[in-house]
Amino acid sequence: MLSIVALALVLSTLASASSPPPLPLTGRTTLDPPVLKTGFIEAKNSALYSEDGKPYTFATLNSPHLLTSDPFEVEDTMRTLRAFGRAVSRTYTQRVASVNIPASQAHITAWNSSSGDWVYNEAMFVKMDGVMSLARKYDVKLVLPMINQDYGSQDSNFAGNWADLIRMRYNLSSYEETKAFDWWSDEVMIDSYVHMPFAILNAEGVDSFKLIITHLLNRRNTITGVRYGSDPTFLALESGNEMNLNGTLPAPGAWTVEIAKHVKSLAPTILFMDGSLARNPVTEDSFALEALKSPYVDLFSYHYYRDSPAAYDYRRVNDDSAYVQSFGKTYITGEHGFYANATPGSMIWSLRPHAANGGFLTHGEGDGIFSYHAPGWSPPPQADFDPLEKDVMHITWDASFKLLGLPTPAFPVPNAPVLNITTDSTGAKGLVWQGAAWAEHYELWGASKLVWKKLDGRVLDTFDAGRLIYALNTKCQYVALRGVSAGGISGPWSNIVTVA
Ligand SMILES: *[C@@H]1O[C@H](CO)[C@@H](O)[C@H](O)[C@H]1NC(C)=O
Ligand SMILES: *[C@@H]1O[C@H](CO)[C@@H](O)[C@H](O)[C@H]1NC(C)=O
Ligand SMILES: *[C@@H]1O[C@H](CO)[C@@H](O)[C@H](O)[C@H]1NC(C)=O
Ligand SMILES: *[C@@H]1O[C@H](CO)[C@@H](O)[C@H](O)[C@H]1NC(C)=O
Repeated sequence: MLSIVALALVLSTLASASSPPPLPLTGRTTLDPPVLKTGFIEAKNSALYSEDGKPYTFATLNSPHLLTSDPFEVEDTMRTLRAFGRAVSRTYTQRVASVNIPASQAHITAWNSSSGDWVYNEAMFVKMDGVMSLARKYDVKLVLPMINQDYGSQDSNFAGNWADLIRMRYNLSSYEETKAFDWWSDEVMIDSYVHMPFAILNAEGVDSFKLIITHLLNRRNTITGVRYGSDPTFLALESGNEMNLNGTLPAPGAWTVEIAKHVKSLAPTILFMDGSLARNPVTEDSFALEALKSPYVDLFSYHYYRDSPAAYDYRRVNDDSAYVQSFGKTYITGEHGFYANATPGSMIWSLRPHAANGGFLTHGEGDGIFSYHAPGWSPPPQADFDPLEKDVMHITWDASFKLLGLPTPAFPVPNAPVLNITTDSTGAKGLVWQGAAWAEHYELWGASKLVWKKLDGRVLDTFDAGRLIYALNTKCQYVALRGVSAGGISGPWSNIVTVA
């Protein structure tokens, strides 16, 4: 008998030397990919519906980082969005090689005069395949503004824009020279086939901007195998971001309708959104009549920030929405910088995810406004976090259910974080982890021999990307952590890290 007990002790000691004891039971995440996916969204009666006839009204956030982020950051974004009543977001535009964007980071890098087409950066489109694939996995729908506007100066040319397309297409050496060409009516930029004999081979599709659209919508996703123009992951294709004629007018209706027709010929079941932002204080002058009357244009939107100047005043949202609806069209608040009235869709500017190297991506918008993170912290835990973040996130999340007539569920339970050991600048050991979506805080646990015990009940990862290091001062052999929801429910454990 004695020898059996002794043997058991020896065995358990051996076991603890080579492997950690089992972790205590914990909760399940509510952010796993959903089993059922939503099909194409339909716009009718000035609203949005999924294929089962249910309303697809959403309140979420823009995700301008998506097309350029690390895959972990994309997945964290999708997990974060998945928790809303309807999971929708809006990416930034395809990038064009330009003053701030090297060809290696652009989707469109040059005009090739011998092929009569643009040169596309396949690596950037493979990255986009990854975004589409993760969005599909988490049943998140995306609005993609296809190209950026020319903001009138190179200082604000953040992503490359249509002026860069003119520059490349006409082989111009400066931005100034592009001003001689009218993007909205220039035959080469829209209908260049008249100038290009090889276009006889493809008389329908060959013109400069439409070529970019054709390339995008005929692309087959290298991960999912789904053709972009047939992928219900797109809620809408938007003609562009903040398209604007001469500073205070929407994009010309004739242009928008022509682009819409082309998009619909390649993606008949995806919604088309007029990406105009007129910056005009008068509702009737902010939307192009020809587009409002066109059967090819489904959605209209506007961007609101603050209460002045009048062109951005959020108090016009009801007038704008009623005007668009009077044409039987659906109105979306494409960007807003506060909590707006209910329209069939609204997206706050903007969401940022956990960073691949620990902490969060952060982004300042100026005027003391910063991007938001889930579930939100107020007062701001660090300088680059917004003072209103917690309210903005909680109100938006709550609204995303109320708009559908659904009760607000318990706060999402985070997924498993990924834990790692690193060394700080002094060479001391510390912990760093890839965060868990919607974790309000983490619990850090440690084990030496047989039992796990809680080392710290409230650990935060609210740091700028790469700045998170949790100093390790424990004699424990193993550590692990788990995220805790804003409602106090623990999610799954991270991997176990061996400290010593
Ligand atoms: C430009 O087009 C020609 C003819 O199709 C092709 O051979 C060449 O590889 C293209 N160049 C680039 C940079 O794509
Ligand atoms: C573009 O312009 C440069 C000079 O500015 C010239 O050397 C080059 O041949 C031009 N390329 C084409 C395709 O016309
Ligand atoms: C826009 O500006 C251009 C150039 O200044 C001008 O020719 C054109 O008439 C303007 N269009 C409208 C609709 O105001
Ligand atoms: C931990 O960090 C090392 C480099 O510091 C890296 O090679 C490894 O992949 C990381 N492990 C995890 C699980 O992230």
